[in-house]
Amino acid sequence: MTTDSFRVVVDSPRRTGEVAAALAGHLRAGDVVLLHGELAAGKTTFVQAVAAALGSPDQVTSPTFMLAQFYAGGRVPVLHIDTYRLTSVTEFRDLGLDEHFAESVTLVEWGGLVADELPEHLAVTLELDPDDRERRTIVLAGRGARWAGVPEKVLTGC
Ligand SMILES: Nc1ncnc2c1ncn2[C@@H]1O[C@H](COP(=O)(O)OP(=O)(O)O)[C@@H](O)[C@H]1O
Ligand SMILES: [Mg+2]
Repeated sequence: MTTDSFRVVVDSPRRTGEVAAALAGHLRAGDVVLLHGELAAGKTTFVQAVAAALGSPDQVTSPTFMLAQFYAGGRVPVLHIDTYRLTSVTEFRDLGLDEHFAESVTLVEWGGLVADELPEHLAVTLELDPDDRERRTIVLAGRGARWAGVPEKVLTGC
């Protein structure tokens, strides 16, 4: 089941953070958010704002050179994964990260690799704008019953 997709155009990293913070208000342990978008689209920026809004005191760095990182200390732990350097779902499975999914909010950059593996998820796509360095279109689309009604609530709350 795919819910309708909802989109919003933002004009600054700060506004992207506001959309992410609005989403954070709806997140709970066990949720999976897959982030799509090319390099520098704003995936890490989005995760940073989610973790901050959940109250994690840790600084979120770009995990391009690491595969996964935890941010604890907030309302719910954040598991931040970047699959950029993985070449297969098997490699992803071998990391054994799934044992942490139930207790965390899991956000995955380059989430396309694991979309079939994690079928119930919220897809967040960040689209660059060729005419404006700071403009992004953010598209939210839920997959599975968990996400019914969530994208529209997020976008009315930001
Ligand atoms: N509206 C925006 N939303 C997010 N990032 C933006 C926006 N406008 C400009 N940027 C900049 O684009 C870059 C996005 O980098 P990053 O979040 O690391 O992207 P990714 O993880 O997708 O590669 C940052 O330098 C950020 O400041
Ligand atoms: Mg990134």
